[in-house]
Amino acid sequence: SAAEKGGYDYFMLKEIAEQPKAVADTLLGRIDAAGSLSLDELRIPDSVLREIDKIVIVACGTAFHAGMIAKYAIEHWTRIACETELASEFRYRDPILDPRTLVIAISQSGETMDTLMALRHAREQGAKVLAICNTNGSTIPRESDAVLYTHAGPEVAVASTKAFLTQLVACYLVALYLGQVRGTKWGDEVRSMIRELSAISTQVEQVLGTMEPVRELARALADKDTVLFLGRHVGFPVALEGALKLKELAYMHAEGFAAGELKHGPIALIEDDLPVVVVVPSPRGRSVLHDKIVSNIQEIRARGARTIVIAEEGDEAVVPYADHLIRVPATPTLLQPLVATVPLQVFACELATARGNEVDQPRNLAKSVTVE
Ligand code: AGP
Repeated sequence: SAAEKGGYDYFMLKEIAEQPKAVADTLLGRIDAAGSLSLDELRIPDSVLREIDKIVIVACGTAFHAGMIAKYAIEHWTRIACETELASEFRYRDPILDPRTLVIAISQSGETMDTLMALRHAREQGAKVLAICNTNGSTIPRESDAVLYTHAGPEVAVASTKAFLTQLVACYLVALYLGQVRGTKWGDEVRSMIRELSAISTQVEQVLGTMEPVRELARALADKDTVLFLGRHVGFPVALEGALKLKELAYMHAEGFAAGELKHGPIALIEDDLPVVVVVPSPRGRSVLHDKIVSNIQEIRARGARTIVIAEEGDEAVVPYADHLIRVPATPTLLQPLVATVPLQVFACELATARGNEVDQPRNLAKSVTVE
């Protein structure tokens, strides 16, 4: 009913709008007065966490994209080797697991069969399993050694939005906590990231306030067949997520690529007026990455692409090559997915609406996939 949707036309729009509160709720009570993380709820003793020598993340769909981003954060902040794997592939390749492996299963519903089977396999091999989940008391957290709830509130729309942002926050918390417990050489960075995370809710709110041009652009592209998405580093999974949203909601051909792979094949797809969304990392920090992606934008534009550029405020280098420029607040590179994903959600939702599709219940899809 309209009341359940809080005055919005679709649950998806309501859930996109709820994101500032959702990410704040995921942080709530997990940062102490001294600015350190306290995750007692993990129930895995710090002594065990200090012995972990490998992390494997398993998930599906959007949760898998959160896991891909988590890999960058975990390896950087903890120096523990981390791999992220599609839950549906995991157990079939006889993965190497032992009691010093931490498996992180990410799932909004907590009922996804592929993810559940992956975590059962991991536990049979003696690995510790931590669930990152949005649904209290669901099967995945019940069968795990520990759980970190995302506290996004119920997500009704099939297309995942607020669950994704809160999964990211939870992954960052786990990564930073492991960094804190293990006292890695990134100690100062860990503390400053905890502060940066506290500012994210306000920054997501800012992004939401500037979305009208994105909706206009979506309406203008409603009769296109294909949209491509490019990113590097954590922008790569963001590109994949933007493409997944467009597939499931707009039923369009949408593909995400790592921008560095363009020259190894996908650049042949570029033709006149093809919309290409590019997620640009911050020019501060890893500036090499930034400069490389600016060259990628030039290359595709020279071949006729219509460039839709998502870049942080103050990044002037992208201006000459952006047919459409979407600004997001400046964040540390690792946290940028929290702001850069939001315009892609709005874009997909508006395109679906413009194409007359059912936003909350896309064809052929279910909210939770309880078969393998
Ligand atoms: C996201 O928009 C999808 N509907 C889907 O990919 C989803 O993220 C996936 O099925 C995993 O679901 P879960 O988080 O409930 O495990």
